[in-house]
Amino acid sequence: MTARFDSPQAIVTGGGCRAQAADLLSSLHAHRTLIVVDPYFASADFVSEIRAAVERKGIATELFTDFQPDPTDQNVLGGAQRFAALGADAIVAIGGGSALDVGKMIGASAANPGPLAQFQGYHRIPKPGPPVVAVPTTAGTGSEATKVAVITDTARNVKMMILDAKLMPTVAIVDYELTFSMPKPLTAHVGVDALTHGIEAYVSRKANALTDPVALSCITKIHANLRTAWADPGNNAAREAMSLAALQGGLAFTNSSVCLVHGMSRPLGLIFRLPHGLSNSVLLPAVTRFSLAGSKERYAEIAHAMQLASEKSPDDVACHALAEWLDDLNRALEVPRLRDCCGGDVEKFRATLPKMAADALESGSPQNNPIVPEASQIIELFERAW
Ligand SMILES: [Fe+2]
Repeated sequence: MTARFDSPQAIVTGGGCRAQAADLLSSLHAHRTLIVVDPYFASADFVSEIRAAVERKGIATELFTDFQPDPTDQNVLGGAQRFAALGADAIVAIGGGSALDVGKMIGASAANPGPLAQFQGYHRIPKPGPPVVAVPTTAGTGSEATKVAVITDTARNVKMMILDAKLMPTVAIVDYELTFSMPKPLTAHVGVDALTHGIEAYVSRKANALTDPVALSCITKIHANLRTAWADPGNNAAREAMSLAALQGGLAFTNSSVCLVHGMSRPLGLIFRLPHGLSNSVLLPAVTRFSLAGSKERYAEIAHAMQLASEKSPDDVACHALAEWLDDLNRALEVPRLRDCCGGDVEKFRATLPKMAADALESGSPQNNPIVPEASQIIELFERAW
């Protein structure tokens, strides 16, 4: 089997490394840059500091904050218009996964005009866009180091997964100090999303020798640090480890793949308006239990790396320990049950199951899962998570 590993040209990490943004942008020969910022951070001091430093390099800037948490094609097209009006030649994207996805797609859209639906799927972006500098403020999606963006097509009400190497940011600036402001539920949900990236990348049918160690390193960091980052939000070491783990989770899954959890999470998130991290978090334990039998050895390796079971214990025992730990983690982080996220309306939930199962299968992600499920099994899994 051949494998290819894509990553940003440069990844900068460490507390305070955001101060390097202006130098890095300058080294990309930028003259005018659109700064795509999560609206929550529009007036944050650190954004003003980055902007001022960039302008001191003689690079003109404009802020773009006109997008929503689950960003839409209309948000991206609005940004692409602003990019063109500014005559920009680079993008800085600052925020959670939504801001980074919007920044990445504004670049793709600026180079390839027209509706975004044309890019849905795999490798369908014709021309490379301008350089993108990605600065995450959460420790979760890993979007700063992935070839993926998830954008809602408003005409069809579908969350489009757009995967293309041209979406890989040019530079990732991973400064854990920017994650201190995350409230506890967000820390939990995006943290379990990052864990899902590590686990799915490792058990995926597309896992390879380059992604395996990155995925395991992501998983063991989260095992050692997520509870601390949640319980003690100001803990430097835990926040730093979680930022690195999220980055590694992104690198791992974008060069391997995600699997069934993500396949089911996208339609669930769309229909019930759940943020990506939350919809993955509620599904991870049940989907992992279902999938264990398809790849006992790989799941056992994960459990051993986390030291959840002794090296001598059989795969079945290690797999069981992993499943139990995932349940415990969700309880400890106060991740709700699915019924609590969906307003408890079981009738509406049941009515949507066939469509959610069909949309999950259509996304392609379940086909990489250790057990490739039938639609009826996906429905059963949604019910189990309820
Ligand atoms: Fe994810």
